[in-house]
Amino acid sequence: MLQFDTIAGLRQQLRSIRSTQSIGLVPTMGALHEGHATLLETARQENEVVVSSVFVNPVQFNNADDLARYPRTLEADYNLLDAAGCDLVFVPSVSEMYADSPLLQLNFGALETTMEGAFRPGHFNGVGIVVAKLFNIIQPDRAYFGQKDLQQVAVIRRLTKDLSFPVELIRCPTVREADGLAMSSRNRNLTATERTQATLLFRALTQAHKMLTGGHTTAQTKNAIKALFESYPAFTLEYVEIANADTLQPADEILAPGQTAICLAAHLGKVRLIDNLVF
Ligand code: PAJ
Repeated sequence: MLQFDTIAGLRQQLRSIRSTQSIGLVPTMGALHEGHATLLETARQENEVVVSSVFVNPVQFNNADDLARYPRTLEADYNLLDAAGCDLVFVPSVSEMYADSPLLQLNFGALETTMEGAFRPGHFNGVGIVVAKLFNIIQPDRAYFGQKDLQQVAVIRRLTKDLSFPVELIRCPTVREADGLAMSSRNRNLTATERTQATLLFRALTQAHKMLTGGHTTAQTKNAIKALFESYPAFTLEYVEIANADTLQPADEILAPGQTAICLAAHLGKVRLIDNLVF
């Protein structure tokens, strides 16, 4: 696996590759786990060359503590990337990516007035800017994103469309621990007790799914999930929403198969966890 820390070096290497081989991109912020590995393996199957990036993008963090606490495990990341069949990894410094802090502001309208967008102002501006930069630097044929961050997929889909990036986006299913907890780099910051408590998110999603398919209304379902979280004082529920899985707009009834998303975010100790279930 080749490693690059400059934009010019990576561009130079990809120039000749691009004319004859397809390129799949898996953008990450490192602290890699099986969820990332699945994206890489899917990219491996569908492309001749797999490029990944490891960059903790400061522009998408709206909370300085969250940025400072974000886990960094670069040596282990190289091993996982190598084992998953990554060919080239881009690991730029902050100054390499942002010689000047960007003046550009992206506004995703209704896509970011709910859920993650509402609770993390400026987050999707930062995600959009870094992904657009990576698309321009790497010019992949395909790019792989996890359903774990469902709203991020919707935002990047719109970014790609609005700016006519010739990139095919692929949404990969959420990879979970054996007990249902969605894998996340931030799970490393949970204490042992919190780690066992953290299964509440998946249990809540499962309960909400049962209620909705059993005929309960979206309002009844959301209220039951709020009550469930209130009975666990270790948690602060930020939101539970039932939404259209593509537009992320709140839905007040079940939509066509594969179109309804139950999404939630909660704080457990110092860690903010999100998860969703699409059915
Ligand atoms: P990061 O949180 O490192 O995630 C990188 C990719 O892995 C994202 O597409 C995310 O949805 C996916 N992913 C994370 N956990 C997953 C899981 N349990 N199952 C499946 N996929 C999972 O998301 C980001 O980084 C950043 O916002 C980024 C897109 C790199 C821009 O900075």
